[in-house]
Amino acid sequence: MKKVVLAYSGGLDTSVCIPLLRERYGYEEVIAVMVNVGQADIKEAEARAEKLSDRYRVIDSRNEFVHDYIFRLIMANGNYEGYVLGTAIARPLIAQKVLEVAKEEGADAVAHGCTGKGNDQLRFDAVFRTMDLDVIAPMRELNLTREEEQEYAQEHGVYFETEKRWSVDENIWSRSIEGSELEEPSFIPPEEIYQWTVPVSETPEDAERIEIGFEHGIPVSLDGTKTDGVSLIRKLNEIGGKHGIGRTDMIEDRVLGFKARETYEHPAATILLRAHRDLEQLVLTRNELRFKDYVDKTWSELVYQGLVMDPLFDSLNAFVDKTQERVNGTEYVKLEKGAMIIVGRESPDGLYTKNVSFDVKLEQKGVEGYSVYHGFQSRQAMRARFGSKK
Ligand code: ARG
Repeated sequence: MKKVVLAYSGGLDTSVCIPLLRERYGYEEVIAVMVNVGQADIKEAEARAEKLSDRYRVIDSRNEFVHDYIFRLIMANGNYEGYVLGTAIARPLIAQKVLEVAKEEGADAVAHGCTGKGNDQLRFDAVFRTMDLDVIAPMRELNLTREEEQEYAQEHGVYFETEKRWSVDENIWSRSIEGSELEEPSFIPPEEIYQWTVPVSETPEDAERIEIGFEHGIPVSLDGTKTDGVSLIRKLNEIGGKHGIGRTDMIEDRVLGFKARETYEHPAATILLRAHRDLEQLVLTRNELRFKDYVDKTWSELVYQGLVMDPLFDSLNAFVDKTQERVNGTEYVKLEKGAMIIVGRESPDGLYTKNVSFDVKLEQKGVEGYSVYHGFQSRQAMRARFGSKK
Protein backbone atom coordinates (compact mmCIF):
# COMPACT_ATOMS: atom_id res chain seq x y z
CA MET A 1 0.00 0.00 0.00
CA LYS A 2 1.42 3.35 -1.06
CA LYS A 3 1.47 5.64 1.97
CA VAL A 4 2.19 9.32 2.36
CA VAL A 5 2.47 11.41 5.52
CA LEU A 6 1.28 15.00 5.15
CA ALA A 7 2.16 17.99 7.33
CA TYR A 8 -1.42 19.14 7.92
CA SER A 9 -2.57 22.54 9.21
CA GLY A 10 -6.31 22.43 8.61
CA GLY A 11 -6.11 25.30 6.10
CA LEU A 12 -7.42 25.20 2.55
CA ASP A 13 -4.11 24.33 0.88
CA THR A 14 -3.22 21.36 3.04
CA SER A 15 -6.84 20.18 2.99
CA VAL A 16 -6.91 20.15 -0.79
CA CYS A 17 -3.64 18.22 -0.73
CA ILE A 18 -5.40 15.19 0.74
CA PRO A 19 -7.62 14.30 -2.25
CA LEU A 20 -4.85 15.45 -4.60
CA LEU A 21 -2.41 13.00 -3.07
CA ARG A 22 -4.91 10.21 -3.71
CA GLU A 23 -6.09 11.20 -7.16
CA ARG A 24 -3.15 12.80 -8.83
CA TYR A 25 -0.33 11.03 -7.07
CA GLY A 26 -1.90 7.62 -6.53
CA TYR A 27 -1.40 7.28 -2.77
CA GLU A 28 -3.78 4.80 -1.17
CA GLU A 29 -3.32 6.05 2.33
CA VAL A 30 -2.89 9.68 3.36
CA ILE A 31 -1.86 10.18 6.99
CA ALA A 32 -2.30 13.76 8.23
CA VAL A 33 0.03 14.96 10.98
CA MET A 34 -0.75 18.04 13.03
CA VAL A 35 1.92 19.35 15.31
CA ASN A 36 0.64 21.45 18.18
CA VAL A 37 3.01 24.39 18.63
CA GLY A 38 0.36 26.52 20.31
CA GLN A 39 -1.92 27.40 17.38
CA ALA A 40 -5.45 28.18 18.53
CA ASP A 41 -7.27 26.36 15.75
CA ILE A 42 -5.83 22.91 16.36
CA LYS A 43 -9.22 21.43 17.35
CA GLU A 44 -10.79 22.68 14.14
CA ALA A 45 -7.89 21.22 12.18
CA GLU A 46 -8.33 17.89 13.93
CA ALA A 47 -12.01 17.75 13.00
CA ARG A 48 -11.12 18.38 9.37
CA ALA A 49 -8.35 15.81 9.38
CA GLU A 50 -10.75 13.26 10.78
CA LYS A 51 -13.14 13.91 7.94
CA LEU A 52 -10.67 14.12 5.08
CA SER A 53 -7.67 11.91 5.79
CA ASP A 54 -7.38 8.14 6.09
CA ARG A 55 -5.73 8.50 9.46
CA TYR A 56 -4.37 11.40 11.43
CA ARG A 57 -2.16 12.17 14.40
CA VAL A 58 -1.92 15.16 16.66
CA ILE A 59 1.45 15.60 18.31
CA ASP A 60 1.65 17.99 21.23
CA SER A 61 5.04 19.66 20.89
CA ARG A 62 4.34 22.84 22.83
CA ASN A 63 6.90 22.19 25.55
CA GLU A 64 9.56 21.02 23.17
CA PHE A 65 8.92 24.00 20.93
CA VAL A 66 9.33 26.45 23.78
CA HIS A 67 12.28 24.76 25.48
CA ASP A 68 14.37 23.67 22.50
CA TYR A 69 13.49 26.35 19.98
CA ILE A 70 12.01 29.52 21.51
CA PHE A 71 14.41 29.65 24.46
CA ARG A 72 17.31 29.30 22.03
CA LEU A 73 15.83 32.06 19.94
CA ILE A 74 15.66 34.34 22.98
CA MET A 75 19.26 33.54 23.91
CA ALA A 76 20.35 34.37 20.35
CA ASN A 77 18.16 37.52 20.18
CA GLY A 78 16.50 35.99 17.11
CA ASN A 79 15.52 38.63 14.61
CA TYR A 80 15.53 38.71 10.82
CA GLU A 81 15.13 42.22 9.41
CA GLY A 82 12.80 42.99 12.31
CA TYR A 83 10.81 39.72 12.15
CA VAL A 84 10.74 37.63 15.34
CA LEU A 85 10.99 34.39 13.30
CA GLY A 86 7.84 32.73 14.66
CA THR A 87 6.87 30.76 11.57
CA ALA A 88 10.45 30.06 10.59
CA ILE A 89 11.51 28.58 13.93
CA ALA A 90 8.56 26.15 14.05
CA ARG A 91 9.02 24.61 10.61
CA PRO A 92 12.00 22.34 11.29
CA LEU A 93 10.29 20.91 14.37
CA ILE A 94 7.06 20.25 12.45
CA ALA A 95 9.00 18.68 9.58
CA GLN A 96 10.94 16.50 12.02
CA LYS A 97 7.74 15.21 13.64
CA VAL A 98 6.29 14.39 10.22
CA LEU A 99 9.45 12.45 9.38
CA GLU A 100 9.20 10.50 12.62
CA VAL A 101 5.66 9.44 11.79
CA ALA A 102 6.74 8.53 8.25
CA LYS A 103 9.45 6.31 9.66
CA GLU A 104 7.11 4.58 12.13
CA GLU A 105 4.52 4.05 9.44
CA GLY A 106 6.98 2.87 6.83
CA ALA A 107 5.63 5.52 4.47
CA ASP A 108 6.89 5.99 0.94
CA ALA A 109 6.66 9.75 0.92
CA VAL A 110 6.19 12.92 2.93
CA ALA A 111 4.24 15.95 1.74
CA HIS A 112 3.55 19.58 2.60
CA GLY A 113 1.07 22.14 1.29
CA CYS A 114 3.44 25.03 0.62
CA THR A 115 3.41 26.88 -2.66
CA GLY A 116 6.49 27.66 -4.69
CA LYS A 117 6.66 31.30 -3.68
CA GLY A 118 7.51 31.36 -0.01
CA ASN A 119 10.14 30.29 2.47
CA ASP A 120 8.19 27.50 4.11
CA GLN A 121 8.62 25.07 1.20
CA LEU A 122 12.41 25.39 1.58
CA ARG A 123 12.28 24.87 5.33
CA PHE A 124 10.17 21.73 5.03
CA ASP A 125 12.16 20.35 2.13
CA ALA A 126 15.50 20.90 3.83
CA VAL A 127 14.45 18.69 6.75
CA PHE A 128 12.42 16.20 4.67
CA ARG A 129 15.36 15.55 2.39
CA THR A 130 17.49 14.33 5.27
CA MET A 131 15.64 11.02 4.84
CA ASP A 132 15.42 8.86 1.79
CA LEU A 133 11.74 9.42 1.02
CA ASP A 134 9.85 11.05 -1.82
CA VAL A 135 9.04 14.67 -1.05
CA ILE A 136 5.78 15.90 -2.53
CA ALA A 137 4.51 19.47 -2.66
CA PRO A 138 1.26 19.35 -4.65
CA MET A 139 0.54 23.07 -4.35
CA ARG A 140 3.91 23.96 -5.77
CA GLU A 141 3.84 21.34 -8.48
CA LEU A 142 0.27 21.84 -9.73
CA ASN A 143 0.29 25.61 -9.34
CA LEU A 144 -3.53 25.85 -9.21
CA THR A 145 -5.23 29.23 -9.33
CA ARG A 146 -7.36 30.22 -6.36
CA GLU A 147 -10.51 29.45 -8.40
CA GLU A 148 -9.27 26.03 -9.54
CA GLU A 149 -8.33 25.22 -5.97
CA GLN A 150 -11.73 26.23 -4.60
CA GLU A 151 -13.55 24.31 -7.29
CA TYR A 152 -11.48 21.21 -6.62
CA ALA A 153 -12.11 21.65 -2.89
CA GLN A 154 -15.88 21.79 -3.37
CA GLU A 155 -15.88 18.74 -5.61
CA HIS A 156 -13.99 16.78 -2.97
CA GLY A 157 -15.98 17.74 0.10
CA VAL A 158 -13.39 20.14 1.42
CA TYR A 159 -15.74 22.73 2.78
CA PHE A 160 -14.93 25.98 4.57
CA GLU A 161 -17.89 27.92 5.96
CA THR A 162 -16.23 31.27 5.67
CA GLU A 163 -13.83 31.96 2.93
CA LYS A 164 -10.58 32.81 4.63
CA ARG A 165 -9.31 36.11 3.39
CA TRP A 166 -5.85 35.98 4.94
CA SER A 167 -3.26 33.26 5.16
CA VAL A 168 -2.45 32.94 8.84
CA ASP A 169 0.27 30.90 10.47
CA GLU A 170 0.10 30.84 14.21
CA ASN A 171 2.05 29.38 17.09
CA ILE A 172 2.75 30.39 20.65
CA TRP A 173 5.48 32.85 19.59
CA SER A 174 3.68 34.77 16.85
CA ARG A 175 0.93 35.11 14.30
CA SER A 176 1.95 35.72 10.69
CA ILE A 177 -0.78 37.20 8.54
CA GLU A 178 -0.30 37.51 4.80
CA GLY A 179 -2.00 37.17 1.44
CA SER A 180 -4.72 38.79 -0.66
CA GLU A 181 -4.72 42.61 -0.38
CA LEU A 182 -1.93 42.52 2.19
CA GLU A 183 0.45 41.64 -0.63
CA GLU A 184 0.15 45.23 -1.79
CA PRO A 185 2.70 47.15 0.32
CA SER A 186 0.57 50.31 0.36
CA PHE A 187 -2.61 48.56 1.49
CA ILE A 188 -3.47 49.58 5.04
CA PRO A 189 -4.46 46.45 6.97
CA PRO A 190 -7.90 46.40 8.60
CA GLU A 191 -7.96 45.90 12.37
CA GLU A 192 -9.46 42.43 11.88
CA ILE A 193 -6.12 40.90 10.87
CA TYR A 194 -4.92 41.32 14.45
CA GLN A 195 -6.27 39.00 17.10
CA TRP A 196 -3.74 39.10 19.90
CA THR A 197 -3.20 42.85 20.10
CA VAL A 198 -5.56 45.79 20.40
CA PRO A 199 -4.95 49.14 18.69
CA VAL A 200 -3.38 51.79 20.91
CA SER A 201 -6.72 53.62 21.01
CA GLU A 202 -8.19 50.68 22.95
CA THR A 203 -5.42 50.23 25.48
CA PRO A 204 -5.95 50.97 29.18
CA GLU A 205 -5.16 54.45 30.44
CA ASP A 206 -2.94 53.12 33.20
CA ALA A 207 0.49 51.68 32.66
CA GLU A 208 1.28 48.19 33.96
CA ARG A 209 4.57 47.21 35.55
CA ILE A 210 6.01 43.70 35.25
CA GLU A 211 9.22 41.98 36.30
CA ILE A 212 10.85 39.24 34.27
CA GLY A 213 13.48 37.01 35.82
CA PHE A 214 16.14 35.35 33.67
CA GLU A 215 18.45 32.45 34.45
CA HIS A 216 21.17 31.59 31.96
CA GLY A 217 19.44 33.67 29.33
CA ILE A 218 16.10 31.92 29.80
CA PRO A 219 13.01 33.70 31.16
CA VAL A 220 11.99 31.78 34.29
CA SER A 221 9.74 34.04 36.31
CA LEU A 222 7.09 36.69 36.07
CA ASP A 223 6.66 39.18 38.91
CA GLY A 224 8.82 37.03 41.13
CA THR A 225 6.84 33.81 40.60
CA LYS A 226 8.56 30.91 38.85
CA THR A 227 6.60 30.19 35.68
CA ASP A 228 7.07 27.47 33.08
CA GLY A 229 7.92 28.61 29.58
CA VAL A 230 4.61 27.90 27.89
CA SER A 231 2.57 29.71 30.57
CA LEU A 232 5.00 32.60 30.73
CA ILE A 233 4.75 33.25 26.99
CA ARG A 234 0.97 32.87 27.05
CA LYS A 235 0.65 35.36 29.91
CA LEU A 236 2.93 37.88 28.25
CA ASN A 237 0.97 37.57 25.00
CA GLU A 238 -2.14 38.40 26.94
CA ILE A 239 -0.72 41.27 29.00
CA GLY A 240 1.28 42.72 26.13
CA GLY A 241 -1.61 42.37 23.68
CA LYS A 242 -3.91 44.26 26.01
CA HIS A 243 -1.46 47.18 25.94
CA GLY A 244 -1.16 47.05 22.15
CA ILE A 245 2.43 45.78 22.11
CA GLY A 246 4.05 43.70 19.39
CA ARG A 247 2.73 44.47 15.92
CA THR A 248 5.03 44.45 12.91
CA ASP A 249 4.18 45.55 9.38
CA MET A 250 7.25 45.22 7.19
CA ILE A 251 8.88 44.50 3.88
CA GLU A 252 10.91 41.32 4.13
CA ASP A 253 13.53 39.77 1.86
CA ARG A 254 12.50 36.19 1.25
CA VAL A 255 15.07 33.46 0.77
CA LEU A 256 14.35 33.32 -2.95
CA GLY A 257 15.09 37.01 -3.24
CA PHE A 258 11.66 38.56 -3.64
CA LYS A 259 10.52 41.23 -1.31
CA ALA A 260 7.28 40.50 0.52
CA ARG A 261 4.94 42.55 2.65
CA GLU A 262 4.40 40.80 5.94
CA THR A 263 2.34 41.53 9.02
CA TYR A 264 2.89 39.91 12.38
CA GLU A 265 1.81 40.14 15.99
CA HIS A 266 3.88 38.88 18.88
CA PRO A 267 3.50 40.65 22.26
CA ALA A 268 5.50 38.16 24.34
CA ALA A 269 8.29 38.03 21.77
CA THR A 270 8.68 41.80 21.79
CA ILE A 271 8.80 41.92 25.58
CA LEU A 272 11.12 38.95 26.08
CA LEU A 273 13.55 39.79 23.29
CA ARG A 274 13.97 43.39 24.42
CA ALA A 275 14.29 42.45 28.06
CA HIS A 276 16.83 39.73 27.31
CA ARG A 277 18.98 41.98 25.19
CA ASP A 278 18.92 44.67 27.84
CA LEU A 279 20.14 42.20 30.45
CA GLU A 280 22.97 41.10 28.17
CA GLN A 281 23.96 44.72 27.89
CA LEU A 282 24.52 44.72 31.64
CA VAL A 283 26.37 41.42 32.05
CA LEU A 284 28.38 40.85 28.88
CA THR A 285 31.59 42.67 28.04
CA ARG A 286 31.76 45.09 25.17
CA ASN A 287 33.81 42.56 23.21
CA GLU A 288 31.29 39.83 23.84
CA LEU A 289 28.40 42.06 22.82
CA ARG A 290 30.02 43.12 19.53
CA PHE A 291 30.94 39.60 18.58
CA LYS A 292 27.60 38.19 19.69
CA ASP A 293 25.73 40.67 17.49
CA TYR A 294 27.31 39.01 14.51
CA VAL A 295 26.64 35.52 15.85
CA ASP A 296 23.00 36.42 16.54
CA LYS A 297 22.54 37.76 13.05
CA THR A 298 24.02 34.67 11.42
CA TRP A 299 21.95 32.46 13.73
CA SER A 300 18.78 34.32 12.68
CA GLU A 301 19.60 33.99 8.99
CA LEU A 302 20.08 30.23 9.31
CA VAL A 303 16.72 29.96 11.09
CA TYR A 304 15.04 32.10 8.46
CA GLN A 305 16.42 29.87 5.74
CA GLY A 306 15.41 26.73 7.64
CA LEU A 307 19.00 25.50 7.76
CA VAL A 308 19.11 24.44 11.39
CA MET A 309 20.77 21.17 10.43
CA ASP A 310 23.81 23.05 9.17
CA PRO A 311 26.79 22.28 11.43
CA LEU A 312 27.31 26.01 11.78
CA PHE A 313 24.03 26.23 13.67
CA ASP A 314 25.37 23.89 16.35
CA SER A 315 28.60 25.80 16.61
CA LEU A 316 26.79 29.10 17.01
CA ASN A 317 24.58 27.59 19.69
CA ALA A 318 27.66 26.42 21.57
CA PHE A 319 28.96 29.98 21.62
CA VAL A 320 25.59 31.40 22.62
CA ASP A 321 25.24 28.86 25.46
CA LYS A 322 28.62 29.84 26.85
CA THR A 323 27.72 33.52 26.90
CA GLN A 324 24.38 32.87 28.61
CA GLU A 325 26.02 31.41 31.74
CA ARG A 326 26.14 34.96 33.12
CA VAL A 327 22.82 36.20 31.80
CA ASN A 328 20.99 36.12 35.13
CA GLY A 329 18.87 38.81 36.67
CA THR A 330 15.64 40.74 36.60
CA GLU A 331 14.27 43.22 34.11
CA TYR A 332 11.73 45.83 35.17
CA VAL A 333 9.34 46.65 32.39
CA LYS A 334 6.50 49.10 31.93
CA LEU A 335 3.73 48.54 29.39
CA GLU A 336 1.84 51.58 28.32
CA LYS A 337 -0.12 52.71 25.25
CA GLY A 338 1.53 50.40 22.72
CA ALA A 339 4.99 50.82 24.19
CA MET A 340 7.19 48.44 26.09
CA ILE A 341 9.62 50.45 28.15
CA ILE A 342 12.44 49.06 30.18
CA VAL A 343 12.55 50.97 33.43
CA GLY A 344 15.31 49.14 35.28
CA ARG A 345 17.38 46.00 35.57
CA GLU A 346 19.47 44.16 38.13
CA SER A 347 21.86 41.22 38.08
CA PRO A 348 24.29 39.40 40.37
CA ASP A 349 26.54 39.19 37.29
CA GLY A 350 26.34 42.83 36.26
CA LEU A 351 29.56 44.46 35.11
CA TYR A 352 28.37 47.88 36.10
CA THR A 353 30.03 49.49 39.05
CA LYS A 354 28.85 52.71 40.56
CA ASN A 355 32.13 53.18 42.19
CA VAL A 356 34.90 52.58 39.68
CA SER A 357 37.54 52.88 42.37
CA PHE A 358 37.19 49.20 43.43
CA ASP A 359 39.76 48.19 40.96
CA VAL A 360 41.84 51.13 39.84
CA LYS A 361 41.81 53.96 42.22
CA LEU A 362 40.31 56.31 39.72
CA GLU A 363 42.18 59.48 39.75
CA GLN A 364 40.94 61.57 36.90
CA LYS A 365 44.45 62.90 36.45
CA GLY A 366 45.63 59.36 35.66
CA VAL A 367 43.62 59.44 32.44
CA GLU A 368 45.77 62.24 31.03
CA GLY A 369 48.36 59.81 29.67
CA TYR A 370 45.72 57.72 28.00
CA SER A 371 44.15 60.79 26.51
CA VAL A 372 47.37 61.81 24.77
CA TYR A 373 47.21 58.71 22.59
CA HIS A 374 43.43 58.66 22.15
CA GLY A 375 42.62 59.56 18.55
CA PHE A 376 46.26 59.31 17.47
CA GLN A 377 45.51 57.57 14.19
CA SER A 378 42.66 59.93 13.41
CA ARG A 379 44.96 62.92 13.81
CA GLN A 380 47.62 61.24 11.69
CA ALA A 381 45.07 60.74 8.93
CA MET A 382 44.09 64.41 9.06
CA ARG A 383 47.70 65.47 8.88
CA ALA A 384 48.38 63.19 5.95
CA ARG A 385 45.42 64.64 4.09
CA PHE A 386 45.59 68.32 4.96
CA GLY A 387 49.21 68.75 5.95
CA SER A 388 50.65 69.33 9.36
CA LYS A 389 49.64 72.53 11.09
CA LYS A 390 52.94 72.59 12.91
N1 ARG B 1 7.29 35.48 5.98
C1 ARG B 1 7.24 34.65 7.15
C2 ARG B 1 8.28 33.58 7.07
O1 ARG B 1 8.80 33.32 6.03
C3 ARG B 1 5.87 34.14 7.43
C4 ARG B 1 5.35 33.03 6.60
C5 ARG B 1 3.94 32.74 6.94
N2 ARG B 1 3.51 31.52 6.36
C6 ARG B 1 2.23 31.23 6.08
N3 ARG B 1 1.99 30.06 5.56
N4 ARG B 1 1.27 32.07 6.28
O2 ARG B 1 8.63 32.99 8.06
